[in-house]
Amino acid sequence: MSAVSVQTDVLVVGAGAMGSGIAQVAALAGHRVFLADTSAEAVEKGCAAIAASLREQVSKGRLDAARAESTIARIHGIDKLADARTATLAIEAIVERLDVKRALFFELESTLPEQAILASNTSSLSITALTAGLSRPERVVGMHFFNPAPRMKLVEVVSGLATDADVADTVFATAVAWGKVAVHVVSSPGFIVNRVARPFYAEAQRVLAERAAKPATLDAAMRDCCGFPMGPFELMDFIGHDVNFAVTRSVFDACFGDRRYEPSLFQQELVAAGRLGRKSGRGVYDYRAGAIPPRPEDESPREGAERVRLHGAEPSLCALADRLGAVAVVERMGGAASRESIEIEGAHLVPCDGRTATRRAAEEDCPNLIVFDLCLDYASTPRLVIAPADQCASAALDCVVGTLQRAGLAVNLIDDVAGLIGLRTVAMIINEAAGLVQAGVATAHDVDAAMRYGTNYPRGPLEWADELGVARVVAALDRLNEHYREERYRCAPLLRRKAIGGRKFHE
Ligand code: NAI
Repeated sequence: MSAVSVQTDVLVVGAGAMGSGIAQVAALAGHRVFLADTSAEAVEKGCAAIAASLREQVSKGRLDAARAESTIARIHGIDKLADARTATLAIEAIVERLDVKRALFFELESTLPEQAILASNTSSLSITALTAGLSRPERVVGMHFFNPAPRMKLVEVVSGLATDADVADTVFATAVAWGKVAVHVVSSPGFIVNRVARPFYAEAQRVLAERAAKPATLDAAMRDCCGFPMGPFELMDFIGHDVNFAVTRSVFDACFGDRRYEPSLFQQELVAAGRLGRKSGRGVYDYRAGAIPPRPEDESPREGAERVRLHGAEPSLCALADRLGAVAVVERMGGAASRESIEIEGAHLVPCDGRTATRRAAEEDCPNLIVFDLCLDYASTPRLVIAPADQCASAALDCVVGTLQRAGLAVNLIDDVAGLIGLRTVAMIINEAAGLVQAGVATAHDVDAAMRYGTNYPRGPLEWADELGVARVVAALDRLNEHYREERYRCAPLLRRKAIGGRKFHE
């Protein structure tokens, strides 16, 4: 299926943050664009914002001046939809209300040519619900851009129950022709990105609710160890807690109260207090003038050991042992290991498997046991999050901390929560992604592309599952499930099937 031709006139309704960005993208691709809004002032502002943005790119040497000016000339602010009656692609980015959007679609159906495609930029409403009662529901599709539309690569192309496959394919090809990465999604709560991202915020808030660590420590762990561009708390502050909380609520409600998406009391309190994040000067962190920037609680320097022992060949242990090898003698113990670990003065440092260190120490009769969290790359991580078992002697812990510090790692001690922060979050993101694939909402390829380009995750979730080993992810989820005994941590059947069958998502 091919994209709509550049001769196609495009109508964008809603000249706010999203609508003006989308108009800019379409005009830059060569289309004549009509920009409409109920507020004439918004149209004026929108056109001015586009011109300013394009000229700024010229001044930075990123855009040719002639192209910028011809793009600006292709955008026409209009005050009634009838002025756009030649348009055969309309994209609405108006207020997020089902009744208002449906009224607009009725009007568009009677104003635009019969073959026109009517697209919605909604981020939370059902495309199926938007089309109910229309005479041509098969021409309606979701075209979900991300903010800011000119910069963010991803477009989710959302099909409602009635959407014609050719319409979705045309919009997909059009988004690609406009320089975007497009993915197909079947209309369902949160589509891909806003659904799969829920655990990123939720697990951090759960760990905080258990008072295992301060937000700045959890943020640093997710950024420095797991490679996310921002930590969950700083990202929520950036998005705005009112917006983030509303998305969580809408997914929770749309899924009939599935506890997996349960909103957090902590965030509800922030919203109630008006601590909405950066925009209100205060959220999880304080942004007011003179406020002290948050810092992770790194452990103070300790004495390290001169010798360590590596038991087994588990890759994360080997990578850490290699780093310790620069500052200590590493004895690589041959033969099969009953417990794969790095042994430091009798204490055992082991990768987190979803159990608490305390439970594992008891089960393995090894009191001086310390678990470490998931990292994207143990060979280069600047930081390591660890948790000792309650049974662990403080001298043993000190020695492990000191040895890791000698190898140049910042060490964060967090309370002994199951799955720590990185492993539990990544496992839950993977679980959510697998659930969507199983339900036929999107393919594994599209889920991964959506999370890489819509949220800049360091890996697509299912690619990450393949890399970690699906069985390890399933084991971690099962242990979380056993620990909390909440349906929240139930494993997606497809994930379990892959683990049992020894298959990957991307073979
Ligand atoms: P906005 O508030 O900046 O702009 C909305 C514009 O629509 C306003 O200028 C308003 O006057 C106009 N409007 C309202 N009702 C109208 C009507 N009946 N006809 C014509 N114009 C009307 O909102 P924003 O942020 O641009 O969001 C617009 C849409 O894009 C919403 O559906 C939202 O969910 C979606 N979206 C927003 C994202 C964001 O980060 N802001 C990201 C992706 C999607």
